[in-house]
Amino acid sequence: MHIAFAASECVPYSKTGGLADVVGALPPALAALGHQVTVYSPLYRQTKLAQARTVLRSVTVPFDDRYRFCSIVDGGTRSGVQFYFVDYPPYFDREALYGTSAGDYRDNAERFALFSRAVLEASKFLGRPDIFHCHDWQTALIPVLLRTVYLEDPAFQDVACVFTIHNMGYQGLFPPEILPLLMLPWDLFTITKLEFYGNVNLLKGAINFADYVTTVSRKYSQEIQTAEYGFGLEGVLRARSSTVTGILNGVDYGEWSPENDQHIAARYSPQELAGKSLCKADLLREFGVASGDGRLPVIGIVSRFAAQKGFDLIAQVMDRLAREEMIVVALGSGDREYQDMFQRLNKQFPQKIAVKVAYDNALAHKIEAGADMFLMPSKYEPCGLNQIYSLKYGTVPIVRATGGLDDTIENWDARTQKGTGFKFTGYTGEALLASVRAALQAFQERSAWEVLMRNGMAKDFSWTASAREYVRVYERARQFRTVTVA
Ligand code: ADP
Ligand code: GLC
Repeated sequence: MHIAFAASECVPYSKTGGLADVVGALPPALAALGHQVTVYSPLYRQTKLAQARTVLRSVTVPFDDRYRFCSIVDGGTRSGVQFYFVDYPPYFDREALYGTSAGDYRDNAERFALFSRAVLEASKFLGRPDIFHCHDWQTALIPVLLRTVYLEDPAFQDVACVFTIHNMGYQGLFPPEILPLLMLPWDLFTITKLEFYGNVNLLKGAINFADYVTTVSRKYSQEIQTAEYGFGLEGVLRARSSTVTGILNGVDYGEWSPENDQHIAARYSPQELAGKSLCKADLLREFGVASGDGRLPVIGIVSRFAAQKGFDLIAQVMDRLAREEMIVVALGSGDREYQDMFQRLNKQFPQKIAVKVAYDNALAHKIEAGADMFLMPSKYEPCGLNQIYSLKYGTVPIVRATGGLDDTIENWDARTQKGTGFKFTGYTGEALLASVRAALQAFQERSAWEVLMRNGMAKDFSWTASAREYVRVYERARQFRTVTVA
């Protein structure tokens, strides 16, 4: 099968969050199963290519003011996967991918519509796939175009489309005027297609037009069909529930394992944990925190700063958290509100909470390795990758039991010595505090704590099993298409 991925970010070429990790790691896992895989993503300023060759000099993308002409750059193959980049400097040669802390770029609809149309046009010349696998609102127009504007294109008659939702919180909402600008017909502006409370909702379009819809954990696939987590699209998803599935993300242990991590001070394994204390000392040095005798437990945070991540709960109870024997080290960037919040907490409790506002991949690895615990109090979490990385590093996750966090972490039971972390359910500061205190108490029992660490380190969330599940979904989507076309 030939699968073409279209996504707005992809490791190692561009990244703001977990989407990039997934698009970097799932394609090689599919290639290892014997499939042909092509990945399309934008050529951003941050995209560094070792070899780059323009293979299509001019791809025409219609807009109603003036057509735009982008080109396609061949980035070569990695791990059996072919990478192509859509090059259009006015849209993608910018400081950031989607916007700055001041807000989203105002022309994001145009930017990602150009990308989506360019992928369809380019694929006709570079290799028509059997499946388009699209991700998040930035590529939501692909399933919409395939079943509307491109309906009669002979190139795509039997091409199926699978759409993966990585986050319901970002839907691609734009004013109706965007339709004529993008040269999309007004008949898409109805409640059964893209219209959403008077605006255009691209994610809604993808849910309605894709052959199959997946999301990144089983629990989240159920949650998004409820009002609490559906962000207004729960009914649209429920209407398609027979074609909505949850497939848990895997992780790339080539990048995220303490046994071979190039970014950390010392390597270690479940058999030989000694290196972890060197990583801890190194981490505290990086954050400029006195290391003491290394006994003080360190709680790590690495995150986009966004409402989704639940950091307001920390602010609610920080005065009491600060009385505990521990230190928090946090790395993050994003919404100004949370940057300010963390910096305020750091000023107020300098001995207890150290903060770096930055995007820093090497430091993210050092936190995974050097911390004793990893905190993710998310309000919602489609999958979450950092808690899975933490397991491998023997860094015990403290998480809210939502979405993928609930699916990947089992509560520690000191009596049976089973479990991999600490979970709380209520979205309250009190619940978070109780869970952190339980973890801090467990940390005092060194031998039991090592059992807990090793339970996590023994877990295997590599991609192979999930890649096979995607293949089953691709096959079902193709069957569905054949039946529909016939
Ligand atoms: P999300 O996709 O919602 O941001 P995930 O847990 O799925 O959450 O993935 C986040 C990814 O982004 C992880 O690989 C994490 O290490 C990385 N990351 C997030 N924030 C930062 C940061 N400030 N610096 C470096 N890496 C970060
Ligand atoms: C999203 C989600 C995160 C998930 C990632 C990759 O950004 O917030 O939970 O792990 O996508 O699927």
